[in-house]
Amino acid sequence: MTSRITKAVIPAAGLGTRFLPATKAMPKEMLPVVDKPAIQYVVEEAVEAGLTDVLMVTGRNKNALENHFDRVAELEASLEAKGDTVKLAKVNESTDLADMHYVRQGDPLGLGHAVLRARMHVGQEPFAVLLGDDIIDARDTLLTRMLDEQVARDASIVALLEVDPDSIHLYGAAAVEPTDEPDVVRITGMVEKPAKEVAPSNYAVIGRYVLKPEVFEILEHTEPGKGGEIQLTDALMTMANDVEGTGGVFGVIFRGRRYDTGDKLDYIKAVIQLAADRADLGPELRPWLVEYAAGLDTV
Ligand code: UTP
Repeated sequence: MTSRITKAVIPAAGLGTRFLPATKAMPKEMLPVVDKPAIQYVVEEAVEAGLTDVLMVTGRNKNALENHFDRVAELEASLEAKGDTVKLAKVNESTDLADMHYVRQGDPLGLGHAVLRARMHVGQEPFAVLLGDDIIDARDTLLTRMLDEQVARDASIVALLEVDPDSIHLYGAAAVEPTDEPDVVRITGMVEKPAKEVAPSNYAVIGRYVLKPEVFEILEHTEPGKGGEIQLTDALMTMANDVEGTGGVFGVIFRGRRYDTGDKLDYIKAVIQLAADRADLGPELRPWLVEYAAGLDTV
């Protein structure tokens, strides 16, 4: 199925407090995962799924993000003069990826508020939202599947990952009903960061969404929720409960590899996993890791 959706919104305006002091003067989305900033993986994923119009929602310290997707004349000239085409290609990788646009979120009032900042740019079309600190392994397809489901069901789509019950309190948890497809469920409710005892399921909402434009009007009227922030989860719940007006919300269950680079431990794991799989680093890193791990105590 060919999707008519072309726009991706990438919120990258959070304060990144879990990663201080690294994020004091730099957005967490710029932290390198092996040798690329996390945000470049996310933009590459959008482009791979056919979304060539990318709107990034930035906050303070936005310069590094914009600069990364812009030309850098001095560096290019210097590498050109040296004839270093390999490094020059690396510099240019992120420059010509997509048609990049930026909008500022003055105060980080929550993910819902960040998405609302995209209203003017997106207009009346369905669009994708990719969180800038969430990486989906390029070898696993998720977004294309979600885009197809959006077109097929004319509904909003979220990505779900089955997590350990002990970690559900870190996510939004979804109450679900089966559909005619094994990897798609209908969302009947959502709870932001629930205690394990009250979580409606172990299905966590992860950082990929394909939303209908009706979400903007709902976000305009969404009051601040948990943590005083305007929560996207609250707007999604309203949509899930208004199937007639909005088409409802469905979840695509993802069983691939996902890395949360906004969390310190997950970030470390992501760097190790992705580096170990790389042809240029893996052959030396893997035996070293095995030797290193053999000498470790688990406590
Ligand atoms: P997080 O809750 O992980 O981001 O938001 P945070 O607030 O920066 O994290 P900590 O807890 O302080 O470390 C998920 C995504 O939504 C964006 C973030 O940049 C991240 O990509 N976000 C969050 C915004 O763009 N604006 C906001 O107001 C909040």
